[in-house]
Amino acid sequence: MAAVMKYILPASLLLASSAAWNTDVHNQIGFMAEELLTPHAVAVLSQLLEPQYNGSIGRAAAWADGYAHTDEGRFSYQWHWIDAHDYPPERCNLNYTRDCAHGGCVVSAIANQTSILKGCIQDVQTGIFSGGTNLTCSYALKWVSHFLGDIAQPLHASQRAAGGNFFRVKFGNKSTELHAVWDGYIPYLAANVSEPFSNQSIAPFFSNLVSRIRKDQFYEAPYMWTACTDPARSVECATRWATESNQWTCDYVYSRVNQSADLAEDGYAFGAVSIVELQISKAALRLATWLNNLVDGVAVTAGGETSWGKSTISHEQIVLDLTEE
Ligand SMILES: *[C@@H]1O[C@H](CO)[C@@H](O)[C@H](O)[C@H]1NC(C)=O
Ligand SMILES: *[C@@H]1O[C@H](CO)[C@@H](O)[C@H](O)[C@H]1NC(C)=O
Ligand SMILES: *[C@@H]1O[C@H](CO)[C@@H](O)[C@H](O)[C@H]1NC(C)=O
Ligand SMILES: *[C@@H]1O[C@H](CO)[C@@H](O)[C@H](O)[C@H]1NC(C)=O
Ligand SMILES: *[C@@H]1O[C@H](CO)[C@@H](O)[C@H](O)[C@H]1NC(C)=O
Ligand SMILES: *[C@@H]1O[C@H](CO)[C@@H](O)[C@H](O)[C@H]1NC(C)=O
Ligand SMILES: *[C@@H]1O[C@H](CO)[C@@H](O)[C@H](O)[C@H]1NC(C)=O
Ligand SMILES: *[C@@H]1O[C@H](CO)[C@@H](O)[C@H](O)[C@H]1NC(C)=O
Repeated sequence: MAAVMKYILPASLLLASSAAWNTDVHNQIGFMAEELLTPHAVAVLSQLLEPQYNGSIGRAAAWADGYAHTDEGRFSYQWHWIDAHDYPPERCNLNYTRDCAHGGCVVSAIANQTSILKGCIQDVQTGIFSGGTNLTCSYALKWVSHFLGDIAQPLHASQRAAGGNFFRVKFGNKSTELHAVWDGYIPYLAANVSEPFSNQSIAPFFSNLVSRIRKDQFYEAPYMWTACTDPARSVECATRWATESNQWTCDYVYSRVNQSADLAEDGYAFGAVSIVELQISKAALRLATWLNNLVDGVAVTAGGETSWGKSTISHEQIVLDLTEE
């Protein structure tokens, strides 16, 4: 236990080093979502963004990271993650009421900004404003587009070593932290690129993921990823997404990591590629479905909502694990 406990650091220490998916990966998740939006949603949402984004959610999806590092936006820094009280790989566990920090976390931020965004969409639809002139609304769309990406990154839903930011590892002969490996090194390896992805348009690796979503070419069917995508149940749905991400920290992120090895060479990074592809694809499809539902004003009462990914454990199981302690 002591060995595990020493990694539990206050989340405030995260300030020094954390990012999220690298900013370009956030852009790409946004570009993927754009391809999955209805034309009507594209038309409405493009009116929410300031002119510099030319109506593109992908171009706007990385804004939240920069903003969190400004004096004005510092309050939103902690909205990028939730510190699940887990002990991966031995035990994964996430409880929104217990784990969402005072001042907010990624789950509460999704809920808060989604409800603001709903009003904004109504305002655009009724002609109250257009052209990105209401900043509260532009920020709400930019935050939602960003946080639905963050919540799919396993290390954004885990407290161990402050989301892996203090977990030293080696990657390609370079000393780095586990968080950075998942944010960028693995996506770049997966896409076989040595430069960041474009922040202006979709890159081939991500177009290919969109095709795979459309053709149902993942080991887990994409329709299952959207079982909970009703913006009226935002806390519940975001908690499920975070719980699923948290589970990966037990199932792979910490269970397979070897701090003496080079993760680029010992099979760790290659084994993680399919997880990163899955999590990125889920994020994009959920973002598009969320935004389409908001624009359509559809209250989705999922009929088959108990079907849940086979790589995850159910909320009920987690509750059980807790009770058994
Ligand atoms: C802005 O968006 C429009 C419509 O999607 C597109 O035709 C145009 O090329 C874009 N302009 C820039 C500078 O990206
Ligand atoms: C979650 O945490 C809250 C606050 O600590 C607690 O009251 C509640 O019972 C927990 N829920 C579950 C399912 O364990
Ligand atoms: C919701 O977001 C607004 C900014 O858009 C912020 O002022 C407010 O504190 C947030 N509320 C919560 C509960 O996070
Ligand atoms: C921006 O839109 C929000 C949401 O509809 C609204 O509450 C707010 O008053 C608007 N701000 C301005 C400056 O019009
Ligand atoms: C790491 O360094 C070793 C020895 O210098 C070299 O053989 C190996 O190819 C390097 N690996 C990478 C991924 O650069
Ligand atoms: C990765 O890219 C390099 C250089 O662009 C290329 O030579 C190599 O064949 C690619 N590898 C794979 C597995 O696609
Ligand atoms: C977009 O990418 C270009 C080229 O890498 C870079 O110079 C620019 O700063 C990026 N823009 C933003 C807003 O990050
Ligand atoms: C971890 O990596 C080191 C160095 O490559 C190796 O000697 C060791 O056997 C590995 N440990 C496990 C459990 O695979």
